[in-house]
Amino acid sequence: MRAVDLIIKKKNGQPLSKQEIHYLIKGYVDGSIPDYQISALLMAICFQGLSSEEQLFLTTEMLESGEKIDLSSISGICVDKHSTGGVGDKTTLVVAPIVAACGLKIAKMSGRGLGHTGGTLDKLESIPGYQINVSSAEFLKQVEEIGIAVIGQTANITPADKKLYALRDVTGTIESLGLIAGSIMSKKLASGANSILLDVKVGDGAFMKTIEEARELAQAMVRIGNGFNRRTVAVLTNMDEPLGYMIGNSLEVIEAIETLKGQGPADLKQLCYDLSAELLMMTRIKLTYEEAIQLIEEKVTSGEALQKLYQMIAYQKGNPNVIVDYSLFGTAPYQYNVLANEEGYIKKIATEDIGIAAMLLGAGREKKEDKIDHRVGIKINKKVGDFVEKGESLAVLYANQENSEAENKVRRAFTLQKKKTEKNPIVIDIIR
Ligand code: URA
Repeated sequence: MRAVDLIIKKKNGQPLSKQEIHYLIKGYVDGSIPDYQISALLMAICFQGLSSEEQLFLTTEMLESGEKIDLSSISGICVDKHSTGGVGDKTTLVVAPIVAACGLKIAKMSGRGLGHTGGTLDKLESIPGYQINVSSAEFLKQVEEIGIAVIGQTANITPADKKLYALRDVTGTIESLGLIAGSIMSKKLASGANSILLDVKVGDGAFMKTIEEARELAQAMVRIGNGFNRRTVAVLTNMDEPLGYMIGNSLEVIEAIETLKGQGPADLKQLCYDLSAELLMMTRIKLTYEEAIQLIEEKVTSGEALQKLYQMIAYQKGNPNVIVDYSLFGTAPYQYNVLANEEGYIKKIATEDIGIAAMLLGAGREKKEDKIDHRVGIKINKKVGDFVEKGESLAVLYANQENSEAENKVRRAFTLQKKKTEKNPIVIDIIR
């Protein structure tokens, strides 16, 4: 076999066989096929796509390229959830404690944020002392004992994906449905859970800008999950405005804690409850949505869900008193309002720009090596459909110093109009 023949084959729109995909991925990982040939192949895939079969073959190769987490020693039902990334997305910090309080075991390896989207690990690291580096043995022990762990990646899982993703990042080949589906699912399958819930974000602040694209990606991932005998459900959710009001690491943890105290913003609460309900139904803990929501309400009202977050923070050597004393997070030295230049109803919010503004303040990274400041970020005061007076605050910036670039980006992110717009629902569709 020669890589060049396979590149031409894909360029001409012909499907690659299992053996051919094996040859390409193995060759790329062991260094016998160079970056420039795989770059050409990836570009051909971007134009020609991958069939469902090819997606399964690719996922298999990436999965088999590294270690896999074995959760079989854990008693009970292990679940995992994954979000394709958004702005203000702190759902893991709410959903994981809720479902753990409901009796599921949540064994989750999370990632860091890059660009305009935040990462759960960065948020957790805003808690003083919180350790994300936990050995595999400790991870399993923690999940068994308290039913919840959210950590950084332990084992060397899916090295083929790591290498391919880095190449895609610099060759303009991230945006391919088959490649994204294979990349996400290989990592989820390697992480070991039997039930996988995918939160596929759609809208301005997400990878997938249209519902059609997001639905196709969701269907592809559900097909791959089911192909590996994992119960997989994907929920399409709206990312046309930031989720909740807070964007930035410690600010988002505080908003998640408020939600677990029953005081969270309506959209965040609804999404977290719906995702949790889906996990309870997938695993047959509850059979109907109404029963699931009732159990979730009980666990939040009784404080058991919040207690799970407390236990997880304490287990991972963080200071759990942050739950009652938010001052332990520290505060950004400089806080100032972004004021509206005119009055009107908020028609839309350029969510990606809000994410970029938060990154400019230091809440996120442009490049992997960038350092972040856990205290900085943005609190938006107005959401789609709200009325704002001229001179009223659209948002508060939490910063280290005045930052006119971030301030202008936030102001311009809000589009106003005379008439009130109806909001899109937070959950757009569920693919089971
Ligand atoms: N997230 C991933 O893990 N992989 C992709 O390809 C895109 C988003």
